[in-house]
This record gives sequence, C-alpha cells and structure tokens, in this order.
Amino acid sequence: MAKKDIDWSNIGFGYIKTDKRYVSNYKNGAWDEGTLTTDDTVTISECACVLQYAQTVFEGLKAYTTEDGRVVCFRPDLNAERMLDSTERLKMPQFPKERFVEAVKEVVKANVDYVPPYGSGATLYIRPYMFGSNAVIGVKPAEEYQFRVFCTPVGPYFKGGVKPITIRVSDFDRAAPHGSGHIKAGLNYAMSLYAIVDAHEKGFDENMYLDAATRTKVEETGGANFLFVTKDKKVVTPKSNSILPSITRRSLMTVAKDYLGLDVEEREVMFDEIGDFVECGLCGTAAVISPVGCVNDHGKEIIFKNGHEEMGPVIKELRDTLTGIQMGHIKAPEGWICEIDV
Ligand code: PLP
Ligand code: COI
Repeated sequence: MAKKDIDWSNIGFGYIKTDKRYVSNYKNGAWDEGTLTTDDTVTISECACVLQYAQTVFEGLKAYTTEDGRVVCFRPDLNAERMLDSTERLKMPQFPKERFVEAVKEVVKANVDYVPPYGSGATLYIRPYMFGSNAVIGVKPAEEYQFRVFCTPVGPYFKGGVKPITIRVSDFDRAAPHGSGHIKAGLNYAMSLYAIVDAHEKGFDENMYLDAATRTKVEETGGANFLFVTKDKKVVTPKSNSILPSITRRSLMTVAKDYLGLDVEEREVMFDEIGDFVECGLCGTAAVISPVGCVNDHGKEIIFKNGHEEMGPVIKELRDTLTGIQMGHIKAPEGWICEIDV
C-alpha cells in the first residue's frame, strides 16, 4: 500500500474520509467485542438520547510520522482517562482504558496510508467518541451506546499556521461553575457555536471566555487552554474547575519545567493582569500551541509585547520542544509516546 495522494502541506483542519473506523456497541449492560468497519455512517433511532438530549462525549488526539519513519501517537492513555471522567459525568457506561488505547491503535494501523509524512506539517487527527443510541423521551440516560473512533488527516487549526492570532473577550459564557466545562461533552461545543460564528464574522480568530460567576478570571477558548509568559519567563496557566484539563497544556508545563528549566505556575489568572504578560499561547491537540498576539476587550487592544508580530521566543521554544518529542527527535518522558506497529 502507498500513501494517499493528498497535498499534505496544504490541507486545513477539515474532515477527509479515511478507509476504516472502529465501532463497539453497548447493550444489556455490556460492550460487544468491537470491530473495524468501512461504513462511515451511523443509523440510530430518531429519538436517540444523543439527538434529543445531547448525550455524547468525545476525545481528540493525533498520530505522527517520526523523523525515522515510525508511526506514534501521543499519550492516548490520558485521553482514555479523560473520557472515563466525561462518561461518568453524563451517566454513560465506561469504555475500558486498555480497549480505548487498542481501538486507537487499530484505527491508525488500518489507515496508515493517511498518516501524513514527516515534515509535511500535517498530522492524523483521531476522534474517539461515544453517544446514547436508543430511544429516550423522558429525560434520563440511554441504555444503549456506541463507542466509535475515526481519523482524518489535518493541517493547522488556525488559518495561517503559526502566525499570532487575535482573539476577543466573549460576552457569552462557556461553562457554569459546577457545570460541564471540565469534561469533553458535545454540549459544551454546541453552545459555543453562536459565539464562534459571531467572533469570525467580526474578524476574530477565537473567543476568550471568562469565568461565568464573576467575569474577572481567564478561563479558556472554545477549543484550547491558555499559557501566558511573564517578563521573567515564568509560564503561567489558568487554574479553574470549569476548564478542560488539556493534555497538551499539562505536557507543556512539564516541558517548560523539565526541558527548558523555566518556572511554571498553575493559578487563577485575573483578566485585569493579562496586559502584564509578554507572550500568550493557546494549547491543545488541534491548536498545538498557537501564539496569540492580541486580545480585544470590547475595542480595547491588549498586545503581547514579545509575541505580537511573530511567535514569541518562549512559546516558540515550548512548541519546538513539544513537537520535537512528538516527532521523535527529542527524547520523550517515559510513557508519552505510544508506538503503533504498522
Ligand atoms: N480546551 C478545550 C475546550 C478543548 O476542546 C480542547 C481540545 O481538546 C483543549 C482545551 C485542549 O485539550 P487537549 O490538549 O487535551 O487536546
Ligand atoms: C482538540 O484539540 O482535539 C479539540 O477537540 C478541539 C476542537 C475544537 C477541535
């Protein structure tokens, strides 16, 4: 088999159908053994819990071709664990961690011709997800579920690749205190759609959400956590119970501390203080670490002095080190890289 004829360096963050996906069904209190299928469609009841009450959770991770031609994915065990938290919160059955990782590996292996080549700038995005599939009309959890994993080659999440983006402070909230912001539930993204369309229409790349209770603290964007850099090169990230615990952010904090020797701090970040930071980045599987040059607060521009025109030096070092680990030319911490036997 040969690599697919795709213009790898010019694809965006979109869906390209690949050959195989994984599916396992939950019925009568148990998961079936699961299988790969070529069928990219899903047939469910018109009254399925996912359609009526949005009972669905998902994950996102990537597979990479390393410099020496291996195919690897990054910390899939943490995605499996986060999905366990998400499913628990939405009263869905648990999909075992080992089976999750095995399903991810099977899907990458079955679609190896879609794993972008080393150096192309593209990666294979993997999307595990689960939804309530049987008919439910009273508000209650489903009894039957599907767990699926598909993959699609992707390019950069933000148009323009690694150029600093401009985001705006949103007047909408993303997540309530004690709500669902800390899990990866589809409902969190449904309610961000109005705000993201509005942001794009007004010329902004993303929304910065503040905490819903006081609107004084920085939370995250619709699809990534924040990292800030102080003038003394300390890396600061917001701490909140209503943001998604990003695997990329947790990894970058380790990279900052253990690889770059920087001080790191996870703490509440007041919106009023962000003008004191000299660099800002958005981190996530899709975003990797994307530099933010400017935050627009209702017309007032907050500019990050070292990262406005070009990616700032600390964000760049963090990005280069993390991607170096993912692409196999920097030694990874134990357990971060999961090699796929293709
Ligand atoms: N925050 C939100 C709301 C997200 O959707 C994502 C993407 O998964 C992230 C943060 C980043 O998380 P991760 O680094 O695990 O991809
Ligand atoms: C990811 O980074 O995997 C996400 O799920 C973010 C999404 C907005 C594409």
